[in-house]
Amino acid sequence: MNTIEITMSPAVSHLLEVTAKTHRIDSLEQYFLDPASSQLDFTFEPEWHDFVDQVSNAWKTNHHMVVRNMPTDNGASTLLAALSLPARFKPYRDQKIVKHFKMSPWTEELSQTIKEGHFHTDLNTAPIPPAATVIHCIKSDPDPKMGVSRVALLSDLINHLEKVGATETLTFLTETQVDMVDERKQSAWSGLIVESDAIRFHPETLRAAARRLNSLPEDLEAYLAQIHESALAVSEPIHLAPGDAIFVSNKRALHYRGACTAQFTMFPHEFQTREIYVLHLQEEPQWSV
Ligand SMILES: [Fe+2]
Repeated sequence: MNTIEITMSPAVSHLLEVTAKTHRIDSLEQYFLDPASSQLDFTFEPEWHDFVDQVSNAWKTNHHMVVRNMPTDNGASTLLAALSLPARFKPYRDQKIVKHFKMSPWTEELSQTIKEGHFHTDLNTAPIPPAATVIHCIKSDPDPKMGVSRVALLSDLINHLEKVGATETLTFLTETQVDMVDERKQSAWSGLIVESDAIRFHPETLRAAARRLNSLPEDLEAYLAQIHESALAVSEPIHLAPGDAIFVSNKRALHYRGACTAQFTMFPHEFQTREIYVLHLQEEPQWSV
């Protein structure tokens, strides 16, 4: 699987920058969460339409893409660029859409730890997880070789597991009822990890459920290791520079972030690390023909 790369043109970048400058991020968020809102002016420009066509083609081919050279600001450009994936934004808290994450050497929190992450889908214990995730890099890891991203397509993962004869892991993914628990959100979900060509998966929510409910097969760790190995084999490193983003299906792909570093400017509280904006879309993007 090759990741499709799109470079945002200076014209589209300019449209986003101008729009971002003339609106506050919270009023944009509120505007986009109101179903009665009409389209913003810039979305009628031909350059924007060309960009949306590229995004739509990449999504339909590969369920994810890298978009390079997006503007960076307070998250408004993240939000505006994500309009190229037509679907409702998923709010968290009242009227917020864009989340900011700065990695930290002082937390175990999965979304912010500098430790290596897992291949996973987001919000996997939610009754209906979001269908898409946008990850927009604002600051790269201080070490250019670290904080690398990867995307493993579900279809490639399944094919690889078949190829290496990992039948028990395949059964675990597609036929075994499992429980997932998110201790931080106090949410839980039970069902199949892979169903109807969609995956919901996070090793830590499976482990948390196993600890709490003692309900998972003994071979859980072996399955998780096999899934990680196959996901690594079918994915490639993606390096995000500031302004670059990953648009990725949260149903047809797993995403991953490698270990990060922190560069202290004043120990212990001032440091440079990877910083990203993240947002989610509720349903599969649908482009009108
Ligand atoms: Fe994630």
